[in-house]
Amino acid sequence: MKKETVCVHGTDESPFDERTGAVSVPIYQSATFRHPSLGKSTGFDYSRMQNPTRLALEKTVAALENGAEAFAYSTGMAAVASLAELFSPGDRIIASSDLYGGVIRLFDNISKKNGVATDYTDTSDLTAIESLITKDTKAVFIETPSNPMMEVSDIAEIAKITRAHNLLFIVDNTFLSPYFQQPLNLGADAVIHSGTKFLAGHNDTLSGFLVVKDACLSEKIRFLYKTVGACLSPFDAWLTLRGIKTLALRMEKQERNAFKICEFLLGHKKVKKVLYSGLPSSKGYGIMKKQTTGFGAMISFKTDSAKTAEKILAGTRLIAFAESLGGVETLITYPTVQTHADVPVSEREKRGINDRLLRLSVGIEDADDIVADLENAMK
Ligand SMILES: Cc1ncc(COP(=O)(O)O)c(C=O)c1O
Repeated sequence: MKKETVCVHGTDESPFDERTGAVSVPIYQSATFRHPSLGKSTGFDYSRMQNPTRLALEKTVAALENGAEAFAYSTGMAAVASLAELFSPGDRIIASSDLYGGVIRLFDNISKKNGVATDYTDTSDLTAIESLITKDTKAVFIETPSNPMMEVSDIAEIAKITRAHNLLFIVDNTFLSPYFQQPLNLGADAVIHSGTKFLAGHNDTLSGFLVVKDACLSEKIRFLYKTVGACLSPFDAWLTLRGIKTLALRMEKQERNAFKICEFLLGHKKVKKVLYSGLPSSKGYGIMKKQTTGFGAMISFKTDSAKTAEKILAGTRLIAFAESLGGVETLITYPTVQTHADVPVSEREKRGINDRLLRLSVGIEDADDIVADLENAMK
């Protein structure tokens, strides 16, 4: 089945309600499940371990990412935190230096406290990755395009390196969703999602995913999943499942809008730089053309001054100044005080995350209305 169909119908393996024929997967709001008899199970025992609504969602996400198994978490951070439990004291992880701030906070505080060190680098530079590999290195963790600088890393080329050194290769695929990019097909071992974003798509629910293709890794994650208990609730699983039904339509429309907004920003005198991976002039464009089927709806741009940035944040009416991304509503974010506030100032400055940088998550409104709102706020 094609991705668009899987989004709407799930997979043949998705459990559905044979008794009633319900078209929408029911919300199985049950903490526990009755055993038919001693030693027998319906396959569902207790909702921390398995839940039918969540399973339908997990099967759908696994199919979309072409993975063997998907695990649905209460948030994207819960998925990352669970994955971090795979490592032991003394291990090292190589990660993109441009990464969602919450993941940096987790690596630099919780993982570090647990004896796991992170080596940050520009993962678009393959030599930089290779030069950091030591006998203690266990994994490479990337975001592509990255948050918020839209840097692009070559998944297939990094996979060659991780395979050669027996490292776990993890890709955070939140920005493009499986509709535009399927990292497991390109050689990654695990995919992370903040399902809160494009997958759920409506800025109304939190969720997270870990998708893997290897049965042995899957078993380790299943153990962590049932032990740590950061599972997605049946209702939030249902909301995410419902959101995914329109993933294809939303991604296409959001991308179309993003191109129109880029055009406006590129022509505005108060905008000094536009960062969007769909611009042929962008550094990662060639790799994007090779490894994705679309460019997504995330745009960062640099204004001429902090005053202009503040004016935009205070002046937009339609566009909400709010954290998060990927939903139907266009949002504008100030990474320096929001998503990346916990990254040390010197690091932020070095990476270009300053008081002139804004990030837009383009929604599905009429593009002209979004442009008019920005234009008005910039007057
Ligand atoms: C790229 C990326 N990964 C992971 C996360 C964490 O997801 P959540 O907010 O669902 O915990 C976010 C959140 O903004 C993100 O942008």
